Amino acid sequence: MTHSSSPARPLQASASSALTGQVRVPGDKSISHRALILGALAVGETRITGLLEGEDVLNTAKAMQALGAKVERTGETAWSVRGVGVAGFAAPDKPLDFGNSGTGCRLVMGAVAGCPVTATFDGDASLRGRPMRRILDPLELMGAKATSSAEGGRLPMTLQGARDPLPILYRTPVASAQIKSAVLLAGLSAPGVTTVIEAEASRDHTELMLKHFGAQVVSEKEGVHGRKIALQGQPELVGAQVVVPADPSSAAFPIVAALVVENSDIVLTDVMTNPLRTGLFTTLKEMGAFIEESHLRGDAGEPMAQLRVRGSKLRGVTVPPERAPSMIDEYLVLAVAAAYAEGTTIMRGLQELRVKESDRLEATAAMLRVNGVKVEISGDDLIVEGRGHVPGGGLVATHMDHRIAMSALVMGLASDAPVKIDDSSFIATSFPDFVPMMRRLGAEIA
Ligand code: S3P
Repeated sequence: MTHSSSPARPLQASASSALTGQVRVPGDKSISHRALILGALAVGETRITGLLEGEDVLNTAKAMQALGAKVERTGETAWSVRGVGVAGFAAPDKPLDFGNSGTGCRLVMGAVAGCPVTATFDGDASLRGRPMRRILDPLELMGAKATSSAEGGRLPMTLQGARDPLPILYRTPVASAQIKSAVLLAGLSAPGVTTVIEAEASRDHTELMLKHFGAQVVSEKEGVHGRKIALQGQPELVGAQVVVPADPSSAAFPIVAALVVENSDIVLTDVMTNPLRTGLFTTLKEMGAFIEESHLRGDAGEPMAQLRVRGSKLRGVTVPPERAPSMIDEYLVLAVAAAYAEGTTIMRGLQELRVKESDRLEATAAMLRVNGVKVEISGDDLIVEGRGHVPGGGLVATHMDHRIAMSALVMGLASDAPVKIDDSSFIATSFPDFVPMMRRLGAEIA
């Protein structure tokens, strides 16, 4: 179900006493989508544990079922997928509805583009507003055809997959794991080698998981910050066991909450620490945050750790633009940490924030401003004047964006006056248990 018809659910966060306790945030969203999609393209059974059971991922599960895979929930966060094999998708009998999820939608576009089927893609008002040309351009080079009456290939859009997909060499125009993954997933059914070159490395979960399912993928350095990824087409993917670690992008919210609420001391278990996802942790440590990693281990090529986080005095820093891909979803909550820091924080190179679930650059600035924080957007940079405390008292417009909702609530846990949000319902897309979990740690959210 998309949210357009659901009533808005306002919430308020108020100054809380020290947060304490141990929690495991839900499974990583990126890995959950990929486990379902690769499971659906594999032969045999894939067993997934720790799947994120948020709306975004459940929509991907439904899409995989509509395309012919057998997807079953076998226990709490435990799922089984029986796949159809590479290029084996069947035509769905109704439009695939991805709700709020750009990742689910764009990755499945790639997977469908390599199969001789036609599917219509749709989503909620937020997803319908997001650019799709960046995905459709390479997929059309590979032989797929997109038809949309909206400008820029936006949803609703019908994609006719290629009968004989061509392998391509593609340089991504922006650092985007979604573009890279769509090309690689389409390349699974092309003969020969499909290559993606990115000037700045984006999250590599697709590459790691493709290897885990038996594909041949070679990833090497390209230039200073980039990668070149080459996939041998037409592999037989074999169903696998996938253990989904906890999502560092979800962990970001309790982490920043514990840093800004005085005397907090919390532990987060099994947090994925893939270096292409941990830019926020690096930045917070530079700001003076107490974040201690222990119990390091790995599963299916993905490292994870236990994190202990304690209330900390933070100071402003400059975040370089090349760090953006490794923390692209975390700038909103970093801006909250920056507001509580002493001094100025400059976050550079945030142009991609404009095309997320909302225009996050504008929405983050508005969230801070309405709560008395001095903030400026200069080109693609966000500049926050930290004063060590936040006046609060504002009503934050969440624009159908889960991360604005959670960031604003985190801000209200230490502000002078409570912070309100207009709608909490989109939190269910990525972190359905957010409010009860934060309350268990001691957060005042009502
Ligand atoms: C994701 C990639 C990122 C990120 C999104 C998840 C993924 O998007 O913002 O939440 O799982 O591949 P871009 O690839 O567009 O930067």
